[in-house]
Amino acid sequence: MLTGELIRLRPLEPEDVDALWRWHNDPEVMRWLTADHPESLAQIRKRFEEKKPNRYESVVFGIETVAVGTLIGVIGLRDATPEQGRAELDIYLGEKDHWGGGYGTDAMRVICRYGFDMMRLHMIALWVVAGNEAALHVYKKIGFQVDGRHRQSFRGQDGQWHDEYLMSLLEGELR
Ligand SMILES: CC(C)(COP(=O)(O)OP(=O)(O)OC[C@H]1O[C@@H](n2cnc3c(N)ncnc32)[C@H](O)[C@@H]1OP(=O)(O)O)[C@@H](O)C(=O)NCCC(=O)NCCS
Repeated sequence: MLTGELIRLRPLEPEDVDALWRWHNDPEVMRWLTADHPESLAQIRKRFEEKKPNRYESVVFGIETVAVGTLIGVIGLRDATPEQGRAELDIYLGEKDHWGGGYGTDAMRVICRYGFDMMRLHMIALWVVAGNEAALHVYKKIGFQVDGRHRQSFRGQDGQWHDEYLMSLLEGELR
């Protein structure tokens, strides 16, 4: 269920925190993501310890390569409610040398299948900054459609305002 062609998804472990901290402090990785205020390694460890386990409302997985087992990113579904059958998706690959290798596309397909088949979702939605062309390309490729455009809702690291797209994928639309 959680294994694709290139990646497998697994729950995060305490020893993954060092990688998460490194990624959160990499401006290139964070370029199109909403960043919290900088956190120390100790703070992120504590936050991780206090984190609730995966549950219907919020599932978070590490993305690791099938070939070597390297942790390369994080993907999750949040704010899911059984009544609405809808959840929001977040993804990022922190290991930049793996960008463009098909891992993100594969991870998206695996978690969407999990959302539709296991969680019985009807819709998976996500937000993406309009300038994030690689992500937009991936989302459209697997079947997401643009539902709307939120004007100047994201402030980039350069201080500029960017629009964001709200995209969605309905059950049966995954390619
Ligand atoms: C966005 C992200 C998840 C994509 O994962 P990935 O493994 O790098 O993507 P893939 O290799 O599966 O696919 C990339 C696709 O985008 C295309 N692409 C790359 N750069 C592009 C660009 N500037 N414009 C258009 N398409 C582009 C590639 O050609 C490829 O398409 P193809 O499979 O049709 O050839 C990953 O790069 C990432 O995590 N980036 C940083 C964080 C981020 O932006 N997260 C998303 C927030 S909404």
